[in-house]
Amino acid sequence: MKISIIGGTGYVGLITGLGLAVNGHDVICMDGDSRKLNKLNNGELPIFEEGLPKLLKEATDRNKVVFTNNIKTAVRKSDIILIAVGTPEGKNGDTDMSQMILALKLVAGYMNNYKTIVIKSTVPVGTCDMARMIIKDNLNNPMIPFDVVSNPEFLREGNAVSDFLKPDRIVVGVDTPKSEVVMKELYSTFDAPMIITDTRSSEMVKYACNAYLATRLSFINEISEISEKVNADIHAILDVMKLDKRIGSHYLNPGPGFGGPCLSKDLKSLIIFAGKANADLPLLKAVLERNEMQIRNIFDYVMSELKDIGSKKIAVLGLSFKAGTNDTRNSPAIHLLEKLSDTKTRIYVYDPVVKNLEEPLHTRVAFSTSIMDTIMDADCLIIMTEWPEFKELELEIVYASMKTPFIIDTRNIFSPSKAYQLGFRYKGIGFAGSIFDNTGVALKNII
Ligand code: UGA
Repeated sequence: MKISIIGGTGYVGLITGLGLAVNGHDVICMDGDSRKLNKLNNGELPIFEEGLPKLLKEATDRNKVVFTNNIKTAVRKSDIILIAVGTPEGKNGDTDMSQMILALKLVAGYMNNYKTIVIKSTVPVGTCDMARMIIKDNLNNPMIPFDVVSNPEFLREGNAVSDFLKPDRIVVGVDTPKSEVVMKELYSTFDAPMIITDTRSSEMVKYACNAYLATRLSFINEISEISEKVNADIHAILDVMKLDKRIGSHYLNPGPGFGGPCLSKDLKSLIIFAGKANADLPLLKAVLERNEMQIRNIFDYVMSELKDIGSKKIAVLGLSFKAGTNDTRNSPAIHLLEKLSDTKTRIYVYDPVVKNLEEPLHTRVAFSTSIMDTIMDADCLIIMTEWPEFKELELEIVYASMKTPFIIDTRNIFSPSKAYQLGFRYKGIGFAGSIFDNTGVALKNII
């Protein structure tokens, strides 16, 4: 099939475009960003993502993908126009729909025959209905037929290529039998259950999934806090919980709170459009609030433990919002650094792929060239991202390199018993004596 992706050099657009191209479709990745287009036309990638170089090579070797800024050609040459533009957080947590609205208007203006317009971006419920009106109002010839379809993405950064090529499920929201046939053909080579529903349910399901994932994380972070305070151990608790098939074993690792461009943004957007529909969402508001508490608690802990912080060296390993990506948007590490950099402490940072930060933070921290440089003579080592190279660190060497052997491990990547054995002061999340356990509440007070 002939497909155009509007926003085709962005994260979702590019992976979707290349993924469809290697599945045999002819894909035009259209975008207004000439810097990214130049890179892609030179065989370079504008984003870091596992498996993407191979996907780009395969799609270009097979002549199945074109990168262009020409929207007119992109629309006219395609049967399916997939819109994957950014829908970032707008004012007060609302979704900024300006790129989506502009894309719909431009697409409509160039349509010359029947097209299936597929909304891939995460958008508030009702957007497909709005899109239909925008397209109708902007067609050059009002007789041109079209359908609008919702097809949410479930790509995790760091795993997005395999999530696209081997999805758990494909969700399609349609209002006409014709567009259902088109979408079935588009994904005919994929080995995954396809759930066909109406456009509003399809739009809603994306928010439901992200809200549920966020809820699990705030839940386990909360259980971690109480575990510390009552001298229980989150490792043992998780071992048991994960064996319950109703709970499952994924997505329950306690940490510094969920970051990244999606979960918080989608929760805020959901709370706002639910409010407009007269639905209050106290549970999901609490999920967000709990998440914001997490980094505040970690910062308060660092401040309470590092007396005379102005004379200290703090080593921070990990800047991206999770391992496997160079994305620092809404990264817990960045939130912590912003707070720490307001103190007089010296901060050394290292991340395997993030080598720059936005100003003013960039100049307020020192970038080290290696993990060992970062750690050398440090008074405190804070692990913020679970990169494999951090997990492989030999704690004996870390111990010998630090001025004060003190580790705050917000991802629980090290074995507490090994750290204690070596003589570290070691604080993880969710077991006795860890980050939240600074209240001084004695067990005898609660039993
Ligand atoms: C998330 C969803 O997982 C995807 O299904 C969805 O398509 C995507 O948002 C989106 O809306 O586009 P992503 O944000 O890339 O994907 O990454 P996640 O793996 O979900 O991680 C989000 C945050 O939760 C990270 O900060 C991560 O470190 C944290 N996390 C995740 C934990 O703290 N513990 C866990 O067990 C899992």
